Amino acid sequence: MSKGMFSRPAGNLAAMAAILVLAVLLMAAAGVEAKSKLKTCSKGWECTDSIYCCNETISDFFQVYQFENLFSKRNSPVAHAVGFWDYHSFITASTAYQPLGFGTTGGKKMGMKEVSAFLGHVGSKTSCGYGVATGGPLAWGLCYNHELSPSQSYCKEDYLYPCTAGVEYHGRGALPVYWNYNYGLIGDGLKVDLLNHPEYLEQNATLAFQAAMWRWMNPIKKKQPSAHDVFVGNWKPTKNDTLAKRLPGFGATMNVLYGDEVCGQGDVDSMNNIISHYQYYLDLLGVGRQNSGENLDCAEQEPFNPTVQPASS
Ligand SMILES: *[C@@H]1O[C@H](CO)[C@@H](O)[C@H](O)[C@H]1NC(C)=O
Ligand SMILES: *[C@@H]1O[C@H](CO)[C@@H](O)[C@H](O)[C@H]1NC(C)=O
Ligand SMILES: *[C@@H]1O[C@H](CO)[C@@H](O)[C@H](O)[C@H]1NC(C)=O
Repeated sequence: MSKGMFSRPAGNLAAMAAILVLAVLLMAAAGVEAKSKLKTCSKGWECTDSIYCCNETISDFFQVYQFENLFSKRNSPVAHAVGFWDYHSFITASTAYQPLGFGTTGGKKMGMKEVSAFLGHVGSKTSCGYGVATGGPLAWGLCYNHELSPSQSYCKEDYLYPCTAGVEYHGRGALPVYWNYNYGLIGDGLKVDLLNHPEYLEQNATLAFQAAMWRWMNPIKKKQPSAHDVFVGNWKPTKNDTLAKRLPGFGATMNVLYGDEVCGQGDVDSMNNIISHYQYYLDLLGVGRQNSGENLDCAEQEPFNPTVQPASS
């Protein structure tokens, strides 16, 4: 009887202890799981301290010879930025963005596609290729690093980023930047005084690639997706987006970057030229244009920002 009286609480204690042990084990397991979800990796100078660095980095699948293949005519005597652009500048610039997912999101194939997409824009916007150019019109990306005969100084009254006297804000860089307010905005993003010194973008290839990557990785407006987001699948279209025919894919990257300058205009050359560069690079990297992805064009898409000046053109 007395044994029974003692055995009951003892049993309860044992049960409670067991529950406690179980709870501690569960919490420990949850902790391990939370830690593994947040696991970060470092791959030397190229990609450090990020979940994205655990996957392959850009130089694992995109090497010097591939850069040379993509931009094979950039140092030919008739090009306009001979000796300026190189592979090392591209990789150095990317070290700030690979830890944020540039070229490192979703595995190797998606990484190669994103590099092709980003460089497709760059190649198209810096090309001096024309129909009968040697090597074909798509071999001439990175031919320019600035606009040769600007028709204006691209200065517009702006409260945040007023023009500096005597400074010209014509196109410069890898995804050419135009207008004082875009130089100001991107300069803020990079913590470099581009508003007073837009010429830095034609003097420093690493900075020029960084400016382009900043534009690729950041939305034009808050609450909107970046070109990176719409390309790698980070972005889920709202009902409004679907009604406006804005869907994830390469087409929407043109929508983010250029709006109605390129998109919603039907089957126009300005759009097709960018797509052609993207697909040419996919082929050269061995991914193949058959893997261009859904929603390749933006011919029918309504622009994200119909009235806003695009960041680059
Ligand atoms: C890493 O790559 C795998 C596929 O290889 C992919 O499923 C995963 O999402 C990638 N991780 C990140 C953080 O993108
Ligand atoms: C070029 O720009 C990069 C990145 O902003 C910077 O680290 C480097 O010092 C610059 N090079 C020169 C010669 O100014
Ligand atoms: C959707 O579009 C309508 C009409 O253009 C607009 O009034 C509304 O604010 C939009 N909704 C969102 C969430 O953007």
